[in-house]
Amino acid sequence: MKRSNAAEATLSKKTFDRLRDIIREQAGLDFPDGKRYLLESRVKSRLLAQGLPDFETYADRLEQDHTGEIAKLVNAVTINETAFFRHPSQFEALEASILPELVRRRQQERANTMRIWSAACSAGDEAYSLAILVREVLEPRHPQMNFHIVGTDIDTEVLEAARTGRYRQRAVRNVPASYLRTYFDRSGDTFVIKPAVREMVDFHALNLTDEGDRRTMRNFDLIMCANVLIYFNETAKRDVLRGLYRSLRPGGYLFVGGSEALGGLDIPLEPIRMESALAYQRPTNGSPSP
Ligand SMILES: C[S@@+](CC[C@H](N)C(=O)[O-])C[C@H]1O[C@@H](n2cnc3c(N)ncnc32)[C@H](O)[C@@H]1O
Repeated sequence: MKRSNAAEATLSKKTFDRLRDIIREQAGLDFPDGKRYLLESRVKSRLLAQGLPDFETYADRLEQDHTGEIAKLVNAVTINETAFFRHPSQFEALEASILPELVRRRQQERANTMRIWSAACSAGDEAYSLAILVREVLEPRHPQMNFHIVGTDIDTEVLEAARTGRYRQRAVRNVPASYLRTYFDRSGDTFVIKPAVREMVDFHALNLTDEGDRRTMRNFDLIMCANVLIYFNETAKRDVLRGLYRSLRPGGYLFVGGSEALGGLDIPLEPIRMESALAYQRPTNGSPSP
């Protein structure tokens, strides 16, 4: 018997399978069996928003969707946890060696632009952390170099938040006090990124599991793609990593999250162990596509 009250609707195994297939196909995100109740609570907000009585009707609607409900579903199911300078050891390595090396390489190539991509950037914390580092470490020493920073995510709502650049205390807990004073305006318990830093970053929507989307991203010196690969299955992970390899210039670096090793995936990126962090480098003589 169908329930008429969406708030009490429950997600059957059969409809869970239908919904997770749609989500896997659209975003590459994997919901293993143990995540059924998580998906139920996330999707329920969409049922209520659409005024639909149960998950079955919602799945029927999605299978015919050409109206943007799929994008709203993806927004509802993504996990957007992030923070400024989330993995401090990676930022230490960037400051101490990787960013200076990348600038040197571009200078040797007689180029005057450096490109940085925060892939799956959520509310922009990582992209702005990179912008702050560029401003602190690189711009004063290399005024002739242009730094292009791009932040992308599949979730259009977090991208809106990223563009406004407003953060709670929790998001900025790792930001050194001097950076907090220099690069943020404080308004009560909200920290607002200063316009000069905000203007350094372009945000746009991009699905990492969509090959067409990935192909638009080329010639990056540095890519940070952290804490998103864990949500993909092995096939999607391999495809995304191959795409990121192609998005790097030879000699460029990739950082992933602390628990996201590339081992066994047959990606020709070279692990570079630094004192406190692990980076992956595209060899300068590497093959154009793995
Ligand atoms: C846990 S957050 C990580 C944010 C940031 N990279 C960090 O490490 O703090 C994961 C982000 O990946 C995004 N995401 C999930 N699937 C995606 C996909 N297929 N393409 C692009 N972004 C995706 C989510 O919307 C979410 O904002």
